[in-house]
Amino acid sequence: SPLARKLCAMPKAELHMHIEGSLEPELIFALAERNGVTLPYPSVDALRDAYAFTDLQSFLDIYYAGASVLLTEQDFYDMTWAYVERAVADHIVHTEIFFDPQTHIARGVPVEVVVNGISRALDDAEARHGLSSRMILCFLRHLSEEDAFATLASAEACFKTVPRLIGVGLDSSEQGNPPEKFARVFARCEALGLRRVAHAGEEGPAQNIRDALDLLHAERIDHGVTAIEDQALLQRLAAEKIALTVCPLSNVKLKVFDDMTAHSLPMLLDAGVAVTLNSDDPAYFGGYLNTNYLAVFEALPLGEETGYLLARNSLEAAFATDEEKARWV
Ligand code: HPA
Ligand code: ZN
Repeated sequence: SPLARKLCAMPKAELHMHIEGSLEPELIFALAERNGVTLPYPSVDALRDAYAFTDLQSFLDIYYAGASVLLTEQDFYDMTWAYVERAVADHIVHTEIFFDPQTHIARGVPVEVVVNGISRALDDAEARHGLSSRMILCFLRHLSEEDAFATLASAEACFKTVPRLIGVGLDSSEQGNPPEKFARVFARCEALGLRRVAHAGEEGPAQNIRDALDLLHAERIDHGVTAIEDQALLQRLAAEKIALTVCPLSNVKLKVFDDMTAHSLPMLLDAGVAVTLNSDDPAYFGGYLNTNYLAVFEALPLGEETGYLLARNSLEAAFATDEEKARWV
């Protein structure tokens, strides 16, 4: 349809995409073979068949198993380059990539290997495709505060030497691991001059969104879809222009909503919140960014103006320079 073509062709930013979640089953098996890693699945099809999630944790278990094939800088380069080609095809002009160093450090992969592999692919993406980007190091919230501090210490040289590595995030299991657990880590990151985002209000209550803002000084909220439980919070998000990086296909696959027609996106938009659309873990949730746009506009009564609003929100909420932003308008 004409609307679908416009949605796909709009220039947009992606602000919530875990690079380990862009590993397609075929690449997982190719890297397993290259590295001599044995997977607990006999075939690509058997792995894909395991992608029947009941909640966030059931996804995370398979996502960390998939990431276990990543060992060398070239592995991280190849994974990132595969995403770059999808991003360019979807008319993404700027992307901010999350990565989970702790899941790699635990397997003996130094954080420099992770950072250099991803950043070298992003350098090439900028040179060859004009795709600008940033990297955001995410702490795994199911691990301890002490482990997060140790990870930050091991990455301090990377923050100084890799210009596109600009901030930190917080991901993994929200239930039982509230923002307050990482208040001191985030305070240290703020003192270091790092940008801050946090997953909050995906499966957890609206209070986690408040705490991510007040205790972590998060500048954007990843997901945030449970904000609709709290009218005062909705007003605050709108007034303070706190962007939400919403991931529609993820929310349906992880059963945050029964189906796309039940998504809280229209209520967030009605409240004037700066919503953006994102793919989260595109290899696991059924599609890249344009597939998310199409699924939303297929299921919900939203028009072309809303498409442009969502894309404009993503460009405005990016951690990009004014010079970069000027190129997009
Ligand atoms: N939520 C929490 N942690 C994650 C996600 C998510 O959607 N994707 C990858 N790690
Ligand atoms: Zn996420």
